[in-house]
Amino acid sequence: MVKVYIIFYTRYGNTFKLAEMIAEGVNSVRGCEAILRRTAELAPEEIIHKDVRWKKMRDTLKKLPEAKASDLFEADAVIFGSPTRYGNMSSSLKDFIDKTAGVWIKGGLVGKVGAAFTSSTSVHGGQETTLLTMFIPMLHHGMVIAGIPYSEELLFTTKEGGSPYGASSVSGLMAEEPPTANDCALAKALGKRVAELALKLKLGEEALKKQV
Ligand SMILES: Cc1cc2nc3c(=O)[nH]c(=O)nc-3n(C[C@H](O)[C@H](O)[C@H](O)COP(=O)(O)O)c2cc1C
Repeated sequence: MVKVYIIFYTRYGNTFKLAEMIAEGVNSVRGCEAILRRTAELAPEEIIHKDVRWKKMRDTLKKLPEAKASDLFEADAVIFGSPTRYGNMSSSLKDFIDKTAGVWIKGGLVGKVGAAFTSSTSVHGGQETTLLTMFIPMLHHGMVIAGIPYSEELLFTTKEGGSPYGASSVSGLMAEEPPTANDCALAKALGKRVAELALKLKLGEEALKKQV
């Protein structure tokens, strides 16, 4: 099986919903499996307890294992997701990535497909910078970056989320507007694309080994 790890942080669940849609896209490709992992919650318990929606989501996410750097060795592709934080990824996802030096030194992600997704309050709140800056550590790891191509026609018309840089959603001021049907369709398309690319790379690698 080709394993596509979807590693994300979320506070209110918008990024989680996109992660689930991406997983559907991955699982729609025969021979590919999506594996969802959350990154650590770094906020203090007393802060989370004051926010009912945050606490509920944190409890929901407990059913998912926390991502470990060693997961990356097993992965054939990795899709990182984070809410937009000042036009960049969250500290939780960055903290996870900052702990992957042991993978980097061994080239554990070299040649593997990487992609990204995010959710933000507003359309122009920095989704694209978040997605693009998530690519930078992936390039340091030697990953092959994938976005969403314009062959997905929704990209021509979206006034919501979704961009050539990855999947996204616009959640509004209170983060209460879940990903729309179009956001979900583009997220599924991203998952499917990453899975297909990872499968092609794996088959290509096997063919190359036979040639030698
Ligand atoms: C510290 C902080 C910084 C944020 N920065 C931005 C930002 O730069 N642009 C934006 O549109 N939304 C920003 N947001 C809002 C979140 O990105 C938005 O609510 C997102 O949809 C939450 O995703 P989640 O439901 O997965 O937690 C910020 C939120 C927090 C708490």
